[in-house]
Amino acid sequence: MTTEETAVAAPETQAPGRVVIEDGVAWLHLDQPGKNVNTLSSDSVGWFEARIDELRSQDLRGLVLISDKPGYFIVGADINEIASFEEPAQAKVVIHRGHELMNRIGALPFPVVSAIDGACLGGGLELSLACDYRVATDARHTKLGLPEVKLGVIPGLGGTQRLPRLIGVTAALDLILTGKEVNGKKALKLGLVDRLSHPLSLRQAALEAVSWGKPKRGKRKIPKRKPTSLMTKITNVLARAPVAKNLVFDQARKTVLKKSGGHYPAPLRAVDVVEEGIKMPLDEALELEANAFADLAVSEVAKGLISIFFTKQEVDGRAKSLADGARDVDEVAVLGAGFMGAGIAQLLAYKNYRVLLKDRDHQGLGRGMKQAGGLFRELVKRRKMRKPQAEQAMSRLMPTVDYRGFDRVPLVIEAVFEDVDLKHSVIREIEEAGPDGLIFASNTSTIPITRLAEASAKPENVIGMHFFSPVHKMPLLEIIRTEKTSDEALATTVDVGLAMGKTIIVVNDGPGFFTSRVLGPFVNEAAYVLQQGATIDQIDRAVKGWGFPVGPLALVDEVGIDVANHVAEIMQGYEGDRAKPSPILAKLLADGRRGRKNKRGFYTYESKPKKVDDAVYELIGWQQAEVDDQEIIDRCWMQMLNEVARCIEDGVISRPSDIDIGVVFGLGFPPFRGGILREADKLGLDYVVGRLDTFAAAYGPRLEPATLLRDMARSGKTFHDYD
Ligand code: NAI
Repeated sequence: MTTEETAVAAPETQAPGRVVIEDGVAWLHLDQPGKNVNTLSSDSVGWFEARIDELRSQDLRGLVLISDKPGYFIVGADINEIASFEEPAQAKVVIHRGHELMNRIGALPFPVVSAIDGACLGGGLELSLACDYRVATDARHTKLGLPEVKLGVIPGLGGTQRLPRLIGVTAALDLILTGKEVNGKKALKLGLVDRLSHPLSLRQAALEAVSWGKPKRGKRKIPKRKPTSLMTKITNVLARAPVAKNLVFDQARKTVLKKSGGHYPAPLRAVDVVEEGIKMPLDEALELEANAFADLAVSEVAKGLISIFFTKQEVDGRAKSLADGARDVDEVAVLGAGFMGAGIAQLLAYKNYRVLLKDRDHQGLGRGMKQAGGLFRELVKRRKMRKPQAEQAMSRLMPTVDYRGFDRVPLVIEAVFEDVDLKHSVIREIEEAGPDGLIFASNTSTIPITRLAEASAKPENVIGMHFFSPVHKMPLLEIIRTEKTSDEALATTVDVGLAMGKTIIVVNDGPGFFTSRVLGPFVNEAAYVLQQGATIDQIDRAVKGWGFPVGPLALVDEVGIDVANHVAEIMQGYEGDRAKPSPILAKLLADGRRGRKNKRGFYTYESKPKKVDDAVYELIGWQQAEVDDQEIIDRCWMQMLNEVARCIEDGVISRPSDIDIGVVFGLGFPPFRGGILREADKLGLDYVVGRLDTFAAAYGPRLEPATLLRDMARSGKTFHDYD
């Protein structure tokens, strides 16, 4: 075999790869310098263009694109570049150049193969789609997908056109509209890749693909592989026929609208572009894609989602560095097998921890184990785990009603009832039963950790780990440190939280910490609006229409009216009249309404879907009055903002990134708005303060703007830096 580092190897030191020619096959090794992953940007496109031009005239048997980064092929386009577009025209210049490159790759006179091991996403997959063949490994890290809609845009480098042509409209829409990733095996089944190989035989598989030769007039001859499936052919034909519109595209539109509430234009635009594009020649279809991409890339929604993407990266990076110095933990004890305790224990067992799950009695324990078992069954059903794996994970959960075995666990997470005295007695018991230096993390949602630590002989080991419900779904973990909490306790809980897959914000102690504290006024204001005469339906519809996943009153039903009222009373105890709960919650509670859990709340849950319970109006002595939708929305979210500002004033939280991630990932604040502080910055604080002043004059001092907001408005400041 002859190997030569050829003259075509990139001269630039910053080249995103290099070319090696072996036995007449050019291997283009992707390897962006100084990075863990490869991305596509204008710079790398320029480099690719030059290499393709050089290779075209050479006498080659084929070209293989392969990555030198372990675990990654190309993870997508450079998001910084997308974020920098201010005008659609700027985006179009970049997209046109990308399209041109993809077309040139497809037009090379020899076969081009993409050899995929690791993440092949977005622009990386689009580049692979422009190749004649794709081979992928069956490794766990190999994932293929088009995640662009998650950032408010659509695939812009040919993905919306080449993918449906390759795997059929239905399967393509499924990938494009959800941004989901598939592994090598699934990709082979879809016809997205032509061969699957072990990572060690990837080069061999790529050479085999080269030997299939250049496809003739688009017809690929792949030996011993199922031809494009009949279903693909049928859906492609159907998709071009007018009658099929209803079948494929209208269904896609309906699903998108239902999922997005109409707030995310990208998936809808993608349906249009696929529907129109499939009827056109490729070059015209690509122009359609370029136009749609360019419009979306400069939209407020894309800016908001991209900003959340970067903010999350910043927050995740910070958490990783906070985990330095963590103690080794392979077993955790969870106290209380209730709704939260069982959820936490299940997730820990899923993530390979051994778990001691303790409740006060067998009944509580049985209920908790059943909940955990149900969650594992769900994972098997959704093919996230195989049955034996799930059984093994379940066996890592050890139920107990006493403290036997607690002397070996380094960390205990407490989730008993929300009652200070009970939590105090549990702390004393566990410090008796556990090893020296045991870290005690409470999942309390309101009680200050300092207050809990009063019962501890080692307050430096006491910390808050506030999970959200349901634990396996909600991405946020709020960690609360007190003045006495040690760095080691913080690092250890952050480390375990990261291993559980959570996005973590670390806040200082105080009643309700950050998330529970700012949720209170949001929900409370909705109750005041109801008292004033708006309907339940109008309030929830207006706030949901603004982008929250559920309206505030429906949320109270979900959380539990008893829980919400209890939290509100505790908060009033600390904050005084400003946090006084609307009397409505107490009235509902007195009527035995606890929300969804006993099927009676603002809504009735006797039939599906839930319906507003008209009896509530009589119960609260309600009289209808006109309230403007925008006023409802602004009063609710601006009260949340007001409390955020007070949390900053009180030193509970300070970084805008933590705040925006906290409200989006913990409380469902609309992600496409980029977070509550970005929304406030966008509107301008003078506008927000003016609005709150108007509300305060009409409805009372609880709506007065916080001092911080007033000061910032006066000096023209913003929360985030926008340089
Ligand atoms: P729950 O009522 O479902 O569960 C509490 C469990 O603790 C019960 O199984 C009970 O038998 C057990 N328990 C009581 N005393 C015990 C003891 N001495 N030793 C061991 N187990 C004991 O309550 P849930 O909803 O799970 O809440 C637990 C904690 O999590 C509370 O502090 C709550 O504020 C907090 N939290 C709740 C959230 C929610 O959405 N439900 C969200 C975030 C935090």
